[in-house]
Amino acid sequence: MTNDTAAIPRRTALVTGASRGLGLALARALAGDGWNLIITARGADDLEKAAAESGATALAGDVADPAHRERLARAAGELGGLDLLVNNASTLGAVPLPALASYPADALAGAFATNVIAPLGLVQATLRGLRERRGAVINVSSDAAVRAYEGWGGYGATKAALELLSGVLAVEEPDVAVWWVDPGEMRTRMLADAVGEQEAAGAADPDTVARFLVDLVGRRPASGRVTR
Ligand SMILES: NC(=O)c1ccc[n+]([C@@H]2O[C@H](COP(=O)([O-])OP(=O)(O)OC[C@H]3O[C@@H](n4cnc5c(N)ncnc54)[C@H](OP(=O)(O)O)[C@@H]3O)[C@@H](O)[C@H]2O)c1
Repeated sequence: MTNDTAAIPRRTALVTGASRGLGLALARALAGDGWNLIITARGADDLEKAAAESGATALAGDVADPAHRERLARAAGELGGLDLLVNNASTLGAVPLPALASYPADALAGAFATNVIAPLGLVQATLRGLRERRGAVINVSSDAAVRAYEGWGGYGATKAALELLSGVLAVEEPDVAVWWVDPGEMRTRMLADAVGEQEAAGAADPDTVARFLVDLVGRRPASGRVTR
């Protein structure tokens, strides 16, 4: 008797920012769904802990560094290419969130490097495999991309740019599903850094959002903006 499940190749995902918050929750959920994972974040200790849980390949580094993105792409190539790229790692930029009138230009440039240039760089570096495998890209966005909240202009501008890139990518790459996702507020360090621990504590559990994303990948709707 043949073992049919053994013949099904495992799907491979790269998840950025997988050492805590939504990225960690998503790595756990994808591992539970049988995915092979490559995960990254800058802090090596937390990333190694996450990898031990999920059986992922952990590569610590900064997604804003082109050399690190190349390492990630090489690791993906060695596993046969990606079925899913999740650009989740992100920065708020300047904190406390400043008004645009006094927004420091270097902090804004850094936020664009992490939230816009890095996701596009990872798409470019892994696109060949994504095309061949008819894979998918999730770019994690925010409602700050489409609404004007006081103090959120710098971060929101990066997410608006990420959404525009995502939309054009979807048009240019018909073999790849591209979703730009507004996950809603989640109780994570990022939200706590922005609005304080107390207010963040009332937000959604990132595990709930992770399950929503795993379901999205399984359903594979047409490319587009997705709101949870
Ligand atoms: N939390 C919310 O309410 C909310 C709402 C809307 C959208 N989002 C979006 O959801 C996504 C996840 O956010 P989160 O709340 O889970 O954030 P989080 O708890 O702060 O986690 C961010 C993750 O990204 C990693 N990271 C940050 N900068 C990085 C860099 N330059 N290179 C590599 N890794 C980096 C962090 O690890 P290291 O610091 O060790 O690198 C960490 O693993 C982000 O795209 C965020 O913009 C969040």
